[in-house]
Amino acid sequence: MTTATIPATPEFKTGAAESRPDARFAVARRPLAAVTGAEIQAPLIQGGHVRYANLDYGASAPALSVVSAYLNEILPFYASVHRGAGYASQISTSVYENARTIVREFVGGRPDDAVIFTRNTTDSLNLLAGCLPAPGGVHTGEVLYLDIEHHANLLPWQRVPHRSVIAAPTLAATLELLRAELAQGGVSLLAVTGASNVTGEILPIRALAALAHDYGARIVVDAAQLAPHRRIDIAADDVDYLAFSGHKLYAPFGAGVLIGRPDWLDAGIPHLAGGGAVQDARIDSVSWTTGPARHEGGSPNVLGAAALAKATQVIADLDVDQWHAHENAIRSFLVEGLARIEGVTVHQIFPDSASFDSPAGAGPDTATGTGTIGVVNFSLEGYDAGLVAAYLSAEHGIGLRDGRFCAHPLLRRLGLPSGSLRASFGLGSRLEDAQRLLAGLQELRRTGLGWDYVVDAGRWVPSNDARTYPHWAPNTPGTAGAAPCTQD
Ligand SMILES: Cc1ncc(COP(=O)(O)O)c(C=O)c1O
Repeated sequence: MTTATIPATPEFKTGAAESRPDARFAVARRPLAAVTGAEIQAPLIQGGHVRYANLDYGASAPALSVVSAYLNEILPFYASVHRGAGYASQISTSVYENARTIVREFVGGRPDDAVIFTRNTTDSLNLLAGCLPAPGGVHTGEVLYLDIEHHANLLPWQRVPHRSVIAAPTLAATLELLRAELAQGGVSLLAVTGASNVTGEILPIRALAALAHDYGARIVVDAAQLAPHRRIDIAADDVDYLAFSGHKLYAPFGAGVLIGRPDWLDAGIPHLAGGGAVQDARIDSVSWTTGPARHEGGSPNVLGAAALAKATQVIADLDVDQWHAHENAIRSFLVEGLARIEGVTVHQIFPDSASFDSPAGAGPDTATGTGTIGVVNFSLEGYDAGLVAAYLSAEHGIGLRDGRFCAHPLLRRLGLPSGSLRASFGLGSRLEDAQRLLAGLQELRRTGLGWDYVVDAGRWVPSNDARTYPHWAPNTPGTAGAAPCTQD
């Protein structure tokens, strides 16, 4: 295996003759935590390999090495939970049930909050949609949501009585719009994202919770993007429900979670009808149980829940200042660098989100004073986003996301109907990843593409791609299929 030379990195000049990295960014020279796969080598289209620069944490973050090690440790004891008297079964049950306590603590949950393990955030929000108050099958209120949401926090609500609001040009004005809508009455639930998966902007969840409660509504926060980047305290912020995904929180293996007030959940439609969710079943009738088991029908994902719980423990142990300084350094470096590249536009929803100081307190972001997580969204004039992503991958070994990010209404409102690019990063990232992205974009501007690209199955791919995947991955590059939210 040969290693390609990484192109010269753009560094911030402090003087005409000087080219030194700015000391502000030094904290991000090294990853903040070890992740599994940090050193994998990506094959380049022109030959050679380079360390894979993973700038796609917002889609799925790599596993923390501590999580991987923990899973190896408990794997020998892996067995069915809740159902067995055997030693391994008892241990697995203990791990699974204890994971609820750990995750509850991680988000500052109230003692009686239900912690329900799901597949992911999408699953959690669909579960909640089935638990909206509906005595006799008739809903007593509507769900209110904005147009800036990920589809996971938008489409489940389209199946129940709902009201959508087009966000105003500023965050402050958007809160006023929501207030006006809530004041009309009839809203049972306000559904908001904690941080935008498209732009990384944080929403003031404490203020939004207060707003919902002023008008007798509850609030659910989609924390899929917020939880991997900020401390959350749902009791302090008075958030009723919170959903997030393990795979974005450095915990692979397919677990998500819904945490929140038990009354609606205990009365709601069991999310999965089946074993474990019942008190008693007869041939044509059933009495459902209450508590998390009501919604966790079937054999639960023990290792997924264990991974999620372990990841939350690692994150809870981080020094908050260090954590945010590391991420903010990469973000600032990237945003400042992108601004220096001709034809690049960085996208943002609200011009006031970075400094937004909500009347009820700045919510989750008080620790940093900034309103963004490790997500940067941009486009390059004259180039299709998918082509840039394919170029960065094939010629520079950089992974980032392109497309519409499962947030079609927002992309339309941002004037990006055919999509944009998203670089996202976290604990395992280093400044060099951002430097390589900037260098790749500068090279594209300067000398253009170094290879021919074609559209295949709706995605840009290098033509005549002779690279191969490892033997256990059956597809060859470019044939794995298009991401559903990328293309349409
Ligand atoms: C803000 C936000 N909400 C919800 C989701 C859905 O998460 P999942 O695919 O894990 O269900 C995502 C995933 O990208 C997201 O970024």
